[in-house]
Amino acid sequence: FKVPEAINEPVNAYAPGCEKRASLLNKYKEMYNQAPIDVPMYIGGEEVRTDDKRPMNPPHDHKKVLGHFNYGDKSHVEAAIDAALNARLEWSELPWEQRASVFLKAADLIAGPFRNEINAATMLGQSKNLMQTEIDAACELIDFLRFNVKFMTDMYKEQPISSPGMWNRTEYRALEGFIFAITPFNFTAIAGNLCAAPAMMGNVVVWKPAETQVYSAEVIMKVFKAAGLPDGVINMITVDGPTAGDVVFNHKDFSGLHFTGSTGVFRHLWKEIGMNLDKYRTYPRIVGETGGKDFIVAHKSAVPKQVSTAIARGAFEFQGQKCSAASRVYVPNNIWAEVKEDLVAQMSTFKMGSPEDPSNFITAVIDERAFDKIAGYIDFIKEQNDAEIIAGGNYDKSVGYFIEPTVVVTSNPNFRTMEEEIFGPVVTIYVYDAEDFDATLKLVDETSEYALTGSILAQDRYAINKAVVALRNAAGNFYINDKPTGAVVGQQPFGGARGSGTNDKAGAAMNLMRWISARTIKETF
Ligand code: NAD
Ligand code: ALA
Repeated sequence: FKVPEAINEPVNAYAPGCEKRASLLNKYKEMYNQAPIDVPMYIGGEEVRTDDKRPMNPPHDHKKVLGHFNYGDKSHVEAAIDAALNARLEWSELPWEQRASVFLKAADLIAGPFRNEINAATMLGQSKNLMQTEIDAACELIDFLRFNVKFMTDMYKEQPISSPGMWNRTEYRALEGFIFAITPFNFTAIAGNLCAAPAMMGNVVVWKPAETQVYSAEVIMKVFKAAGLPDGVINMITVDGPTAGDVVFNHKDFSGLHFTGSTGVFRHLWKEIGMNLDKYRTYPRIVGETGGKDFIVAHKSAVPKQVSTAIARGAFEFQGQKCSAASRVYVPNNIWAEVKEDLVAQMSTFKMGSPEDPSNFITAVIDERAFDKIAGYIDFIKEQNDAEIIAGGNYDKSVGYFIEPTVVVTSNPNFRTMEEEIFGPVVTIYVYDAEDFDATLKLVDETSEYALTGSILAQDRYAINKAVVALRNAAGNFYINDKPTGAVVGQQPFGGARGSGTNDKAGAAMNLMRWISARTIKETF
């Protein structure tokens, strides 16, 4: 099979003074100033509105009302399931290349006419700056769509051995029933991919986005419609999670959960599914990418500047609201003074403010709940004797939910913020004796329940290899001499193990295989 070649979408640099930058910022202003919008649910291709209107506010400017989204109830979940099941037969029987065409067209639409809209919606709704949104909402989503088509095509080529008089075939069927996609606020691309990947494989989907991502979620629905996705294949509902879960997990046709979000929620959902197992026609597929407590470990041979840059970028880009963000760091005492000096110097150049100003490196965290949680951690740290804040530590929610990038140094390797996910711009550093590298690797492996990303910085090849071996289960994505963030679709398949998820690798064939149920056919001539 020949499909259009999958190539990573080039990231627009939006250089000062260039036309693309002006055009995106104009779109942002236009959407900021437009009359308040009213975002519907999308069920069976219909726009559904209710009397329960929930406000949408930019996190960096929370008194501004961008509009409202419509909040649904149990009946909307039921309607979405019905719409999905009604669409199922025709969609799943469509030849794979017809389904692929829809998603390739969706990728082209995001790359072209919808690029500014999806980026501006992500800037307004999720407070991402120009580069953050370009990497997430534009490039990563385009890459997911294009690469998944390639992976799907490769998968369909895989066929068993046949011999004269006998033809063996594998038929890659969609799961019987519907998929429930539950998505987080922090990546527009993840939201789009969690619905698109199962749909591409012939499944129908009920999608519940995070309430704080609804603005860009609607653009995704508009793109899919413009790309020709038939009604009912993906249905977007804005309903409270437990209400939606209660209906979905009690339905006999529930056949899979595609989740990204926190570990606690995922564990809860898995238990719910387990409790209802006898009701289902099939064992539901459960795919979850969850929390992280991602590490950087530096060896005594590491280049100090490389370590400070990995911390500054790994911990603070995207306001630290990345599942992969560096949040616990182990630095040997022989290089600590240099690392500290350069880290603090780099951070002094960080500007914080609205994403509208592209020079702002840091913008607001997503909402008041996140702000209060992160500020609570900072307050806690300030009260402890075994930890000290050496940079940042201030916060202010009067205009937007702004938290200064904060560096904590602790003498206790099991300090609370070395273990718990904060999901904000706070990093904790433990300075270890440079001769204790082996013991430190053990500490890195055992300190956290998570295993999402991590990196080793070292010039010594034996030290690198020791870390590769000792930390084999501590991270699903492991980086050598780099920050632990920034996985690119098609290059670094992404996902973690232990408390960080089922490790089915977003942006890889491994994920797509979870959304099919193969039938083997043997024909004798
Ligand atoms: P969250 O767990 O609070 O919410 C995720 C989604 O689950 C939302 O749509 C939410 O409404 C829904 N939800 C919450 N409770 C529910 C319930 N009882 N029933 C049904 N749905 C429910 O997470 P978040 O704050 O949106 O995102 C941040 C978290 O996501 C962090 O822990 C982060 O590490 C994780 N994350 C992981 C990855 C990854 O690839 N491993 C990627 C992005 C984010
Ligand atoms: N793809 C994102 C990263 O690796 C989550 O940082």
